[in-house]
Amino acid sequence: MLSAVERKIEQFVADLNDKEVTALYAKLPQGKRLRAKLILKIAGNTLPVVKTAAVVEMIHAASLLHDDVIDDAFTRRSKPSLNALYGNKTAIMLGDILYSKGFFELNNISAEVSRMVSNAVTQLSLGELKDVSLSKSFNLDKEIYLEMIYQKTASLIEASAGAAAILAGKPKEVYMTYGRNLGLAFQMIDDLLDITSDAKTLGKPALHDFVEGKTTLPYIYLYEVLSKEEQEKLSILHAKVLTKEEQSWILLKMQEHQIIERSYFEAKELIEEAIELMDSHGEEALSGIAKEMIERDF
Ligand code: FPP
Ligand code: MG
Repeated sequence: MLSAVERKIEQFVADLNDKEVTALYAKLPQGKRLRAKLILKIAGNTLPVVKTAAVVEMIHAASLLHDDVIDDAFTRRSKPSLNALYGNKTAIMLGDILYSKGFFELNNISAEVSRMVSNAVTQLSLGELKDVSLSKSFNLDKEIYLEMIYQKTASLIEASAGAAAILAGKPKEVYMTYGRNLGLAFQMIDDLLDITSDAKTLGKPALHDFVEGKTTLPYIYLYEVLSKEEQEKLSILHAKVLTKEEQSWILLKMQEHQIIERSYFEAKELIEEAIELMDSHGEEALSGIAKEMIERDF
């Protein structure tokens, strides 16, 4: 039923009656539509549910448009990003148009759903700001990293599940916990893929996060187990363009200390908790989405 969401987004965009915006929207790669999938699986496919899913996906698309400007990213899902194709100004404005139209439509759904989703967008923005600020120094604090990824990524997935539960008359806390765990694990795995995948699969150079100054969970764990001299070496490499040798050194040290396995285990624990929670509520389809996430390639 994802196609109903696709059609609803197209209709919302068409409502704006602007040829340029319609053409720009058509250029955006659609992505996995994880948030819409969750919403439909929790709440079915009545009109308010489809509208909520469409709004959430428009907000998500807006956040990625802005994120690619902030990150100077020239690719998104292995294709040229909108900022690469048309410049930062166009990308920012398309983001603003998508999310303000989303907010407008949100008001026609329900006050509780509207509060839930709009609060998540504030969290999203606070998280993105934190991500930028943290990348200016070598963050070694796992709690700070977790708080940042909760805000930047998990908050909208948590709110999607919560909003769907409200619409379906299901206990919202249960579904929000599921969404939060899924969101945290999703970002942790995304951060792992930045280390384990090659440039071709990623659509961006490997170890890009560290070069950008982002010390994700594996770097925090690696630092903890390195010798004093090695810690110093890693801090010197932080936020620098890396030579092939420097890249290999980081990867070798990660292998030596089983850092990827340790970080993956942490994401897996969150997923297992989410699966158990959904199994105990008879929500097999939602357990299935969680399982798929942990079985992603890497
Ligand atoms: C991707 O992170 C970014 C996010 C999940 C959130 C971005 C949020 C904003 C820019 C706030 C603005 C919100 C709106 C609605 C306009 P990443 O860079 O770690 O992941 P990536 O590898 O997918 O780029
Ligand atoms: Mg980014």
